[in-house]
Amino acid sequence: MDEIKRIGVLTSGGDAPGMNAAIRGVVRSGIYNGFTVYGIRRGYEGLLKGDMTEMNLRSVSDIMARGGTILQTARSDEFNTPEGVQRAKTMAEVFRLDAVVVIGGDGSFRGARDLSRIGVKVMGIPATIDNDVGCSDYTIGFDTALNTVTDAIDKIKDTAHSHERCSVVEVMGRDAGYIALHAGIANGAEAVILPEKGFELNADIIKPIIDCRNRGKHHYVVVIAEGIGDSAQIAKDINAITGIKTTTTILGHIQRGGKPSVRDRVTAGLMSVYATGLLKKGVYNRIIASKGDDIVDIDIEEALEMKKTIDEEMITTSKILSL
Ligand code: F6P
Repeated sequence: MDEIKRIGVLTSGGDAPGMNAAIRGVVRSGIYNGFTVYGIRRGYEGLLKGDMTEMNLRSVSDIMARGGTILQTARSDEFNTPEGVQRAKTMAEVFRLDAVVVIGGDGSFRGARDLSRIGVKVMGIPATIDNDVGCSDYTIGFDTALNTVTDAIDKIKDTAHSHERCSVVEVMGRDAGYIALHAGIANGAEAVILPEKGFELNADIIKPIIDCRNRGKHHYVVVIAEGIGDSAQIAKDINAITGIKTTTTILGHIQRGGKPSVRDRVTAGLMSVYATGLLKKGVYNRIIASKGDDIVDIDIEEALEMKKTIDEEMITTSKILSL
């Protein structure tokens, strides 16, 4: 078994609060385990260009409370080709990296899996605000993003209450409705529209609003996940059909920034120490995952086959709570 001595760490895909805490964890615990640790800038793009530097214990001082990623991130077109993956392997060899730790979501892990198939040792740490990594109950960044969304909708509700309006709020999640569903429960939305489910305007939005009006409500929140489409048009339709003045707020990238929550910092710390601990034991090509209260690891090929589905009970709960 080849001993792992030099590792690289990169962040890839959309950034997420807590990525810095994960970088810090990989660097500190990597050094603790006797590794030389290289920080690779701008994700796979940096690996392809050899844009990396050795990190020391102090390179990651004072980054825990910062959102974003000090290593930066990019979506690399070149890496998404067989030639790109091959070149990334060559660069890993040029820098004598024995393993690469990838902090990101499923898309980033597909890149890591492609590398592993041609002999590069990899390790994945799930970080995306969308919480949509199939093998893990939780991904770093989700809690912070949800708190940002909840805070924003609380404020929108204040003014919706004053003016007796309906507020359509678009949250992130191109393919995944976890942010929308949790925010729907946390903010008491009258309707929550998820990309996994799609929607029918009358049944899923208009009827709940009218039912709530008949039960005495005077302001309403409709949370729409980004992947659903034109939230401004949905607001116009609500206005036209119900006569209720309806506004649209697209929360956008505000959801990706900000000081990571305690949950995200702690999860990042636990997962990163677990990841380098495995590498120290010569275990690689795994994705670190959270299962209930535990941190576990799953073979990267299996992990990428795993699918997470929206919990139907949560959808029902959200409807009951908004009665
Ligand atoms: O993957 C996280 C995410 O924030 C998604 O929710 C969103 O659809 C996407 O990234 C937006 O990506 P970009 O920053 O490239 O616009």
